[in-house]
Amino acid sequence: MEENAIFEPLIDGILTKGYGIADGFLSAGEVTALAQQLRDRRAGGQFKAAAIGNQQVTIEKQIRGDEILWLDEANAAPAEKVYLDRINEFIQYVNRTCYLGLQDAEVHYALYPPGTFYKRHLDRFKTDSRRKLSVICYLNTDWQEADGGQLAIYLPGEDGTERVDTVMPVGGRLVCFESDRLEHEVLPANRERLSVTGWLRTR
Ligand code: OGA
Ligand code: MN
Repeated sequence: MEENAIFEPLIDGILTKGYGIADGFLSAGEVTALAQQLRDRRAGGQFKAAAIGNQQVTIEKQIRGDEILWLDEANAAPAEKVYLDRINEFIQYVNRTCYLGLQDAEVHYALYPPGTFYKRHLDRFKTDSRRKLSVICYLNTDWQEADGGQLAIYLPGEDGTERVDTVMPVGGRLVCFESDRLEHEVLPANRERLSVTGWLRTR
């Protein structure tokens, strides 16, 4: 698919409704390869329970139950390189069209075992003002409504009310929103749920 055909709906979505979705950000083959790479690394014992906050590291299963592994660009496997390259293309695209002055990305794998979730939160820590855009790409094949694990996004509705949109974690789909603006949540997943989550950062 042409680059702009994938990237443009992301920016357009952020500007018009607060978040953007691009299906086919990764092809089916790229999803399979990256999911396999995730599983290989997890089998190798590289994943850790996710912590909350970036200062005092506490593990709180009542808040989030995913296991994560940060991607290391210098030692990226081919499937990881494909993803990081595409994210870097997106950064260039955003900088050309929106002048956000994005510098780089920090990206981690996330695996939610069955029954786990991530309660409502904002992505930007008080101590890290560099995170500008959150980007989440899903690596799940044949995800069904009954599998749960939707991304719930809280949006301002009419007259100060709140609206909730839900997004299915369908393989190859990328969701993007401003890290310091949108509160969101991962609803309990009934099946193992795989993703790569990243933040596009300014200088
Ligand atoms: C996160 C997060 C959402 C998702 O990792 O901070 O909110 O849909 N992920 O995986
Ligand atoms: Mn989040």
